[in-house]
Amino acid sequence: MTAYHLEGRGYLHITFYYEKAYMKISRIILKNWRNFQLVDVPLEERIFLIGANASGKSNFLDAFRFLHDIAKTGGGLQRSVTERGGLSSIRCFTAPKSSIVELEVHLTDSSDNTPRFKYAIGIKPGHPVTLAYERVFQSNQQLINRPDKEDKQDVLRLTQTYLEQISTNAHFREIAHFFGSVFYLHLVPQLLRFPENVLNQGLSENPFGRTFLKQLSNTPEKIRQFRLKQIEQGLRITIPQFKRLIYSEDEKDMPHLEAVYEPWEQVSLRENQFSDGTLRLIGLFWALLESDTLLLLEEPELSLNGRIVNELAPLIYRLQHPKQGQVILSTQSGALLSDKGIAGEEVLLLTPSEKGTQVELASSIEPVRHLLEAGLSIADAALSRTNPPALHEQSLFQ
Ligand SMILES: Nc1ncnc2c1ncn2[C@@H]1O[C@H](COP(=O)(O)OP(=O)(O)O)[C@@H](O)[C@H]1O
Ligand SMILES: [Mg+2]
Repeated sequence: MTAYHLEGRGYLHITFYYEKAYMKISRIILKNWRNFQLVDVPLEERIFLIGANASGKSNFLDAFRFLHDIAKTGGGLQRSVTERGGLSSIRCFTAPKSSIVELEVHLTDSSDNTPRFKYAIGIKPGHPVTLAYERVFQSNQQLINRPDKEDKQDVLRLTQTYLEQISTNAHFREIAHFFGSVFYLHLVPQLLRFPENVLNQGLSENPFGRTFLKQLSNTPEKIRQFRLKQIEQGLRITIPQFKRLIYSEDEKDMPHLEAVYEPWEQVSLRENQFSDGTLRLIGLFWALLESDTLLLLEEPELSLNGRIVNELAPLIYRLQHPKQGQVILSTQSGALLSDKGIAGEEVLLLTPSEKGTQVELASSIEPVRHLLEAGLSIADAALSRTNPPALHEQSLFQ
């Protein structure tokens, strides 16, 4: 089916609605997850996480990465917990010692947000950690309710989720696929430039630092060329004198990117000579083009020119349509949030408190909603709420 609609940005935008089933996370509930005691929020297709430093933006993203790490090939519950330093690192420091960590997500494929699947786990402390429960619902029918009969006969079974096992997730494999393909982008230019640096060893997954070029080389050539052409167009608009982006392999078959700039057409620069901003833009464009489930972005504004940052929110919107896919990003940037196309329902405000960080939709905070209705942007209506309370009274260095 194909449909066309007119986007309110002054130009015609064509949208294709694919037959392909598309899912997004419509709600997440967290209990005792890192610096949150309780989170229960709905999620739109595009979500902006805002909050002061250390308010938990990365921790919030980590909940989705945790589910990804459980579901991915070679992942699993035990590994995901161990890689994070054990349950004591994951569980809210202020929670009582015996309490469990709970995560629940609702996945929907319809515009009215009726959940198609609900997936929930509770994790109990211990060595190894075990499942207090694992539940899967499809529509309103419960498919899995653990501990089940077999679990009671063999408690070791509770060290693994059904999500991570092909033999047990047959009826909800879509959830496993969805989480398996969640994509996290926190591009560290230094890791991309010097992948062999010893300091980088031991990172299990960092597709856009150390292994970005490898990921390019693993992508089928046609798809790679198609995406790089689109990225090249994006770079031409955003980087003065940028002309061409080329993928190449050296004599040792190592993949590289090369850039050609207008005044020096004979010379091409290799990725280790690209600027931070160029590398981060390439990573960002690639991630937006590649991801068709859930893309998690850490502060995409870093190292980018303010004018480009202004364009990030509409750019993400345009790349989400026609392809679809959900994007959740953390940001501290007023320039990014000054786009008036960002709705209050798309913004989660993280506010630290004695009861752990509170997470609220910007549109659910009455004064913010009024300011948005009066035509202000999120930057003007809500960003000041993320300022540290004492900052305006004190100098940083006294
Ligand atoms: N298990 C936990 N319980 C409580 N607080 C935690 C836990 N794990 C990390 N934190 C705290 O979370 C904060 C960091 O949050 P982070 O997500 O990195 O913030 P942001 O990305 O918003 O800057 C730190 O202050 C850290 O001490
Ligand atoms: Mg962070």
